[in-house]
Amino acid sequence: MKNTITLHDLSFEKFITKTNVQHAVNGVAVRLNEDYRGKCPVFLTVLNGAFLFSSELIKKFDHDCELSFIKVASYEGTQQSDEIHTVMGAEPSLKGRDVIVVEDIVDSGNTVETIIKILKDEEVASFKIATLLYKPEAYKKPYKIDYIGLEVPNDFVVGYGLDYNGLGRNLTSIYKLKESTMTNLVLFGPPGAGKGTQAEVLKEKYNLVHISTGDVFRYNIKNATELGTLAKSYIDKGQLVPDSVTIKMLNAEVEKNADAKGFIFDGFPRTEAQAEALAVLLASKNTGVSGMVALEVDDEVLVQRLLERGKTSGRADDADEAVIRNRIKVYYAETAILKGFYEKQDKYHGVDGVGTVSEITDRLSKVIDTL
Ligand code: IMP
Ligand code: MG
Repeated sequence: MKNTITLHDLSFEKFITKTNVQHAVNGVAVRLNEDYRGKCPVFLTVLNGAFLFSSELIKKFDHDCELSFIKVASYEGTQQSDEIHTVMGAEPSLKGRDVIVVEDIVDSGNTVETIIKILKDEEVASFKIATLLYKPEAYKKPYKIDYIGLEVPNDFVVGYGLDYNGLGRNLTSIYKLKESTMTNLVLFGPPGAGKGTQAEVLKEKYNLVHISTGDVFRYNIKNATELGTLAKSYIDKGQLVPDSVTIKMLNAEVEKNADAKGFIFDGFPRTEAQAEALAVLLASKNTGVSGMVALEVDDEVLVQRLLERGKTSGRADDADEAVIRNRIKVYYAETAILKGFYEKQDKYHGVDGVGTVSEITDRLSKVIDTL
């Protein structure tokens, strides 16, 4: 069977082979056969995920037993939520019975807790928890998990009953979400902060692809690509190019560099909507923005630097102090929103942008190395 699979928008890699899953099931079955000799327990299977595990388990169970099912739900996509609701309760009553709760995976323990409450209300004679997989790092409850097939790290897994948004339950091996090893930077800096210079250096140092939105626009317009022509039609009318067009252009750049170790986004995102669109684009590659890195330079230093540059660059917008100050103002107005956006995700990193090129690179590297 394949080592990497895709379910919906995410890739998963093989993590526990079919054989090892079978060993884990056998291990639990052997112990249950020992412990329930002479009893007639009720296997209470937690739907949907545990159906495969429980069906194999009871086939290996040597004594009399009965079956019952309960259905609770807590997961949305790959994210755990605290809210658990009972979709289907156990029928008939479990009063006075020896119950073996069969779970596919115990994560936070919220589900187990909910079920234990139900069992106590039902006044069962005894209960034990049997789970195929257990995430010790995620488990936050005091209840003992009596039978564990395998302990797994705190990663999202699918297969052998476990799903991602409905898919993956029929896989006979267990797969885990592929972790991204990409470094994706959103680089910010006011005009004159040395962003272009640092992007060049970082690109070499970290083997990243530098995507300057301005360059991407110019390239597409110059080569009259479909998107370039579309973008130009807005620009010619003096209108802003819609986010959807910009995102499509960036998407094409990202696609062109499918093997990249990461990207430096420069000049993008400019708005929260764009930042959200970028997150979606990168999520489809199983990755995300590693961090927003903003060069911080005092306004007066910037004005002096740009006026100095204006003397030789010939750029009209570098020659006029009022124009310079306005560009700086616009930058801060735009960045404030994005700073807030990435701060909320703990991804904003301000870096002192005053010093020599290599001093600033060192400061940036210190941040990037921790991402
Ligand atoms: P808990 O309530 O946090 O212990 O989570 C238990 C339930 O969440 C399981 O029965 C699964 O349905 C689901 N779950 C937890 N971790 C995973 C996972 O890694 N993949 C798929 N489903 C999971
Ligand atoms: Mg479940």
